[in-house]
Amino acid sequence: MSKVVVISGHPNLESSYTNKVVLAQLQSTFSSIDIRRLDALYPDYQIDVETEQTALLDADVVVLQFPFYWYSMPALLKKWLDDVMSFNFAYGPEGDKLKGKGFIISTTIGGPAESYDPLGYNHFTVEQLLMPIQQTAYLAGMNYQKPIFTHGMVYIPGVYNTQEGVEAKAVEHAVRLSETIHYLLESPEAKVTALVKTWFEQMDKLQEDAGLFHAMLRNDVAITAPEGEFNGIAGFNDWYQVLRSTFKPNCEHVLEQIVVHEKQGEHVAEIRVRLIAETVQGEAINVLVNEEWSVDLDKDKPRIIRYKVEPV
Ligand SMILES: Cc1cc2nc3c(=O)[nH]c(=O)nc-3n(C[C@H](O)[C@H](O)[C@H](O)COP(=O)(O)O)c2cc1C
Repeated sequence: MSKVVVISGHPNLESSYTNKVVLAQLQSTFSSIDIRRLDALYPDYQIDVETEQTALLDADVVVLQFPFYWYSMPALLKKWLDDVMSFNFAYGPEGDKLKGKGFIISTTIGGPAESYDPLGYNHFTVEQLLMPIQQTAYLAGMNYQKPIFTHGMVYIPGVYNTQEGVEAKAVEHAVRLSETIHYLLESPEAKVTALVKTWFEQMDKLQEDAGLFHAMLRNDVAITAPEGEFNGIAGFNDWYQVLRSTFKPNCEHVLEQIVVHEKQGEHVAEIRVRLIAETVQGEAINVLVNEEWSVDLDKDKPRIIRYKVEPV
């Protein structure tokens, strides 16, 4: 199982000076990494969608690594995106397969920083130009990170830069990228935030099966809610049935704030969430609630120990 999956979109990595270095650095930094070199796997651009989707299902973090071509990604990577981010995989009623996974754009850029400015010859910032990919990640429910990019990465012998110069910048780029990957894999804040998001996305649906939440709860979970006190997994099941008999499915939890901090060795999330819902009697509800969760991060998956809800 590869925790980090890197999709290399360079159309000809043999001829690369910088992407090649970034990928080599990543390979030596992470033990559980799958670098999918699209130019070698699919020289004919015929993407094996099933294989690619399986690789993504395994991942906690997905990195798109590419040289910036015409203010976007190379055609090979765009073809990969078009084919792999399919209906009921990345979007649609069952398209939740990438939800909560970390997502990082990592790109090498030929032009200088000052050109990517309203007053520069490229007019737009790199972040603006990357927005279609950002929105793609949002639609798939992925955890979008600030993109990692480096300017002045073009090497044309005798014309632009030196090989040593661009290679050194590529190493520095890989260090920044690795920091973001480490953050996604390890920081308590990122883990708790991902848990909170997954929880509320699941709560929105209010599906019949309370078991969908059990992996997110510790066996001794204690819940304090306006509906009462509920203990353990059986208690959660009771509370969930109360919620299901109160609200119609497909409600909306809008996360307005999540602050994660450590308190006496536990990780506490202070959450402010707006519930927009309809009761089974047909009454429209729009309430703001404060929640406080204590989360156990000791095991492989984070689990809730205490869950308190208070209407504001
Ligand atoms: C087809 C093509 C299009 C490019 N378009 C851009 C661009 O829009 N903006 C830019 O700053 N650099 C552009 N470049 C420069 C590349 O971004 C640069 O050569 C690349 O990042 C270097 O990566 P490599 O050493 O791994 O090949 C382009 C290069 C090619 C070949």
